[in-house]
Amino acid sequence: MIPLLQGNTCVVGLQWGDEGKGKIVDFLAESADVVVRYCGGANAGHTVRLNGNKYSTHLLPVGILRPNILNLIANGVVLDPDALFKEIDQFIGQGFPVSPANLRISYKTHVVMPWHKAEDAARESASEGNSIGTTRRGIGPCYADKMHRTTAIRVADLVHEETLQRRIGQICADRNKVFKVLYDLPPLDWKEIFETYRDFGRRLQPFVDDTSQRLIDAWKSGQRIVFEGAHAALLDIDHGTYPYVTSSSCSALGLYTGAGAPPNCVQNFVGIMKAYSTRVGGGPFPTEQDNNIGSYIRERGNEYGTTTRRPRRCGWFDAMAVKYSVQLQGITHICLTLLDVLSGLEHLQICTGYKYKGSRLEGFRADMDTLADVEPIYETLPGWNGNITGCRRFEELPKEAQIYVKRLEILAGAPIKMVSIGAERSATLIR
Ligand code: GDP
Ligand code: IMO
Ligand code: MG
Repeated sequence: MIPLLQGNTCVVGLQWGDEGKGKIVDFLAESADVVVRYCGGANAGHTVRLNGNKYSTHLLPVGILRPNILNLIANGVVLDPDALFKEIDQFIGQGFPVSPANLRISYKTHVVMPWHKAEDAARESASEGNSIGTTRRGIGPCYADKMHRTTAIRVADLVHEETLQRRIGQICADRNKVFKVLYDLPPLDWKEIFETYRDFGRRLQPFVDDTSQRLIDAWKSGQRIVFEGAHAALLDIDHGTYPYVTSSSCSALGLYTGAGAPPNCVQNFVGIMKAYSTRVGGGPFPTEQDNNIGSYIRERGNEYGTTTRRPRRCGWFDAMAVKYSVQLQGITHICLTLLDVLSGLEHLQICTGYKYKGSRLEGFRADMDTLADVEPIYETLPGWNGNITGCRRFEELPKEAQIYVKRLEILAGAPIKMVSIGAERSATLIR
């Protein structure tokens, strides 16, 4: 473990996702014993590059890439068993063992069912011009059913086969009426769904556990835990740029309920931010560069979605947004990623404020109508040239890059302790 992090650590995104959380969780997992996913579902895509190979996880914690780590999928996740088993089979095929010895899933985790995916896609297609741009993985409808309660299915329910059959029958009958009227969808076949999910339940059974108890036991026995945040603060259902958000409490604030973790068990909150901004799907994005700058960043940063391959929208670093995320989540350390992508630009712009209806806004407003109307106030810094991925000490970076990092640190309001300058584990500088 890098010396600056004693105790348990939560890794979270400070922007709109895809900040490189996967790479940093993998890096920190070197001396961890347990890695926990606590929110979201197969809408996440976390990439780790190892010795030139690329590994993408959607539901599995990235601790799966290292031996001797217990990986927990906690209650706050929405689990698509079909996606999970495809992922497990893929990792096993690549030589990474996945078994109940290194993966446990909470019995309280909610299950993404075929009707959730159908509804997600149908709602998106029906809301022309107003769509959220979801990943269509059924995330929103599954969390909605979690709140509705009577129409939800949890991992624990999959193994009670008679009850499962009855509930799937009832829910399908209900959904078929609604889907026909609202979206003119063909009816769901309850029997086929039941048989598929019963079989998923049988395969899942050995992995099912009380993950909250597992992590409390691990903590009490002095093991190190890394909480792998998915998505990011600005996509959080309460604190993000609503309604263009995901449907979970995916900021650090959701960690305790999502993981079933006592609040005093986490000491470090590591916020991950890229050296610029990106966003996938709809919603306001004040510093977006829908021009040559945006294309330059997209191509150099390979800014295409890990989950949907959609081109990510790219823009300048937004210090207003990041400062909000840092404060909200009690960030103790920042890791700046993808700094190498900015090499070759003559000048870099940083948004240090917003103008709204002629005057300067005091702080960030996670409100669509305000944010869609703000005009960013920019500060300009000189750029640098050359490939910086080979640098192994912060001081080896071009002077302009060091100045840029130090300026972001002041604006963000927390110390930048790590700087990532390439996708490989080794391309990580500690300050
Ligand atoms: P996550 O969702 O936050 O885990 O991020 P993603 O994996 O979706 O997207 C981050 C992408 O950037 C991945 O393809 C990583 O391999 C890559 N990456 C991470 N850190 C760096 C970096 O410092 N430089 C470069 N060039 N790529 C990076
Ligand atoms: P990681 O963990 C980037 C976005 C979607 C969409 C909105 C709602 O890889 O950083 P959803 O399918 O969740 O209902 O879609 O949220 N979104 C993400 N964008 N990275 C992610 O995860 C995301 N997870 C959800 O693009 O705009
Ligand atoms: Mg991602």
